[in-house]
Amino acid sequence: MEPANQFPHDFLWGAASAAYQIEGAPHADGKGPSIWDTFAKIPGKTKNGTNGDVAVDHYHRYHEDVALMGQLGLKAYRFSIAWSRIIPDGDGAVNEAGLQFYADLIADLKAHGVEPVVTLYHWDLPQALQDKYGGWESRKVVDAFAKYCRVVFERLGSAVKYWVTFNEQNVFTALGYRWASHPPNVKDIKRMYAANHVVNLANATAINLFHELVPGGKIGPSFGYGEVYPATSNPADVLAAVNANQFNNDWWMDVYCRGTYPVKIMRTLQSLNIAPEVTAADDQLLKSAHPDFIGLNYYHGGTVEAPTHHTPTTTKQLTNIDPYLMAGDAENGLSPEKLLFHSVENPDLEKTAFGWEIDPVGFRVAFRQLYEKYQLPILVTENGLGALDQLTEDHQVHDDYRIKYLQQHLLALKGALDDGVPVLGYCAWSFTDLLSWLNGYDKRYGFVYVDRNDTDAKDLARYPKDSYYWYQKVIASDGETL
Ligand code: BG6
Repeated sequence: MEPANQFPHDFLWGAASAAYQIEGAPHADGKGPSIWDTFAKIPGKTKNGTNGDVAVDHYHRYHEDVALMGQLGLKAYRFSIAWSRIIPDGDGAVNEAGLQFYADLIADLKAHGVEPVVTLYHWDLPQALQDKYGGWESRKVVDAFAKYCRVVFERLGSAVKYWVTFNEQNVFTALGYRWASHPPNVKDIKRMYAANHVVNLANATAINLFHELVPGGKIGPSFGYGEVYPATSNPADVLAAVNANQFNNDWWMDVYCRGTYPVKIMRTLQSLNIAPEVTAADDQLLKSAHPDFIGLNYYHGGTVEAPTHHTPTTTKQLTNIDPYLMAGDAENGLSPEKLLFHSVENPDLEKTAFGWEIDPVGFRVAFRQLYEKYQLPILVTENGLGALDQLTEDHQVHDDYRIKYLQQHLLALKGALDDGVPVLGYCAWSFTDLLSWLNGYDKRYGFVYVDRNDTDAKDLARYPKDSYYWYQKVIASDGETL
């Protein structure tokens, strides 16, 4: 046993990325288009019309990026596979060149002592599956996903131990089907819950297939979790927070880990006629799949009061569309939130320059809640700070604010380890700077600065930031120098 309050020696000190946000090369070596290739070209949908056509050109520069990971001493790197590189039309012929790209990347990572953590789906569905079947609203896409998973498990399963099924299902279904701010650009909450149920079936199918094909491996979903606090100790606010946690978190986590939807939320959705239809066969499938770990993406949670007694004069109402805490008053009168909770500002938390709450204690709360509820080890698959970094004339980035953010969150993680929660590793978001889906290239998260902006891809040169050298020391000391 490790002494308490220390990072284990095999802790996966990592960093993360996603295909569309870094690779570029949308047509290279037979890749088919994804729904993001299409959506980002719709005028007005992304900041300054930014898209991933070039991104940070990782497809052509991955050797350089992996070498920088090696120098940093990274122990793990989470990246996603672009499905349409492997099967360009979604469910037809396999593209060997696409598979080879990821096989080469994985070999390179391992040569540098970096453990690959592979995400199967980080939001870039092959466009052909949207066109042919209607995307995640069709159960045909579950079969297509299973086919794609089989191909990559058979080809890459012996080299990769850790796999993530879906990245932030809560975010891509809400933004894609409820708010029309991600593809497929739909604004219909009933369709959101229907599509979300199909994704649950795909998740369970992939997990079962993985356990059949890759016996020694580990697989789990990555969920965007944020604990929701009651605004006061008024019991009505506490009940609202219970509702909000079941609505925002358990609605997904219970299905992943127990195969059931929370009953109160199901009833609320049924009362609005927006609940998904769950057949007996679906129920059986969901209960049959057991993830090996929980992938935790943590940025922030939320705060709520009772829906009936809020007083807008004393608490500031949230109206923004926030993927991590639905505060939906906007559409069609079909707002389950109105029956369950009312989101408010938390006066005790500071925010980033982009308006996201900074709450390291909430990170510890997340570990504790998830572990005690589901009894699975936790791998942090994302956590980080988006900021407007400045490159100095001598190519440095003094991102002390990011160091502070990461340090506070790693100390909270250390607290969770001390509490007895098995935490496998921590993948900071992100390794290099990359495309923020809706915020372009100026909202930066990386340990490595990439010299480009929204309108000019420049030379895409890589410059390690101060946080890179800080993380290098943290890793070298097994977290002792935090
Ligand atoms: C997560 C996603 O939601 O947050 C990432 O998994 C994303 O892909 C990250 O980039 C940060 O979000 P944003 O909007 O600041 O880029």
